[in-house]
Order: sequence, then structure tokens, then C-alpha cells
Amino acid sequence: MNTHHAGPIPNHHADHPGFSGFGGLLAAVGFLSGRDNAAKMAIDLSGLQPGERLVDVGCGPGVAARRVRALGAEVIGVDPASVMLRVARLRWRSSSGLDWRLGTAESLPVDDGWAHVVWSLATVHHWADIDRALAEARRVLAPGGRLLVIERRIDDMNASGTASHGWTVEQPESFAELCRQHGFNNVAVGTHPEPTALLSVLAQ
Ligand SMILES: C[S@@+](CC[C@H](N)C(=O)[O-])C[C@H]1O[C@@H](n2cnc3c(N)ncnc32)[C@H](O)[C@@H]1O
Repeated sequence: MNTHHAGPIPNHHADHPGFSGFGGLLAAVGFLSGRDNAAKMAIDLSGLQPGERLVDVGCGPGVAARRVRALGAEVIGVDPASVMLRVARLRWRSSSGLDWRLGTAESLPVDDGWAHVVWSLATVHHWADIDRALAEARRVLAPGGRLLVIERRIDDMNASGTASHGWTVEQPESFAELCRQHGFNNVAVGTHPEPTALLSVLAQ
């Protein structure tokens, strides 16, 4: 599909080398803290219900996936970094029914039409290819399924270090337009100032 968008690209860290080695392990352990707010918001915004099926794209060490499992939904956590999945397996080893799979947003190891919800938390800014990832989200979603993306709000996508990992207020609009071009309807951008500044796109 040949999509185009006028605004800033939503994946300005597509060239990130990925998480591996000792640095990746430190990052994975770091992502076990402070992620609960986004996880709770994701459940609220997506309307995920017990018994529904979620694909958590770029699940990292699995804080949100674990919360979803506790809610009584089914979840497949997908991440391209094996160190993230190793930490997830270890940290949540006493929780049953968690399914961790190596894969990417651009090539999801999930059957067609399996999911009621696909979400991606703090991850789209890393996606290598947004068009392929949106086509994959469409493929694995059941008819009427929801796609939700949440990113931390940042001020400058060219800032150095972690200050650039997230979205400026313009980037969700670019992503929303790409969702529409991929056939999603009811695409809504949200801004959530409290308790930490987050931006969202919900598409159906
Ligand atoms: C900042 S972490 C967020 C982890 C988790 N979603 C959370 O909110 O705690 C970004 C994650 O995206 C993953 N990632 C990077 N590129 C990806 C891609 N193309 N497809 C899916 N996940 C990707 C990374 O391996 C990493 O685990």
C-alpha cells in the first residue's frame, strides 16, 4: 500500500539498534517500573474485557500483559528483543497463561483474526515500517477489533537521549492519518496530561 502523510513521521527512532546484551538487560529491568499508568490507561481506552484476546506489540518485560492476564483476558506478548522476553518469563513465572513470542510489529506471529485488541505502548516510535505494521494489525484483528497506541509526550523528537523517546503532540495526528489510509474507521487522538503526559490513538 502506498500511504503518505503530511506531518512528522511517527517512527523517528526506527533506526534504533534494538535491545540486547547487558544494556538490553538493564533496559528490560528498568521497564518493569513506572509502566502501570500506561497499562491501566490502555485497558480503559481499549475497553478490553475479560475473555477478550489482546496482542501486546512490543510488550517489553510484560507489565501491561501481566495486568491484562489478571483481568481475565487472553494475551500474546510480542517483542523482537529476546532479552525482554527472558525478563518477562522470569518476572511473571508464577502467572499462568502468559504467551510470549519473538516477533515484530511488521511480522506478527499471530493467526489471522485472532485478536479483539492490538495495542502498542511506548513502541511505535521504534517501528521499522509503519505501513507493514498497520497491515499486520489489520490482519490479526477480528472484524470490529480495536487498535490502540500510547506514547509518552515529548517536546522535541530531535532531543538527545530518552527525551526523544515518545511523541510530540503532532505525531499522533500523522499516525491517525496512516490508520485511516489503512482502512481503520473511528480514529481518535487523545491527550492525557495526568498523572504523566501521554498521547493516544484509538482506531477501529
Ligand atoms: C520503550 S520499550 C516499551 C515496552 C513496553 N511496551 C512498555 O510499555 O513497558 C519499547 C519496546 O518496543 C520493542 N520494539 C522495538 N522495535 C519494535 C518493532 N519493530 N516491533 C515491535 N516491537 C518493537 C522493543 O524491543 C522494546 O521492548
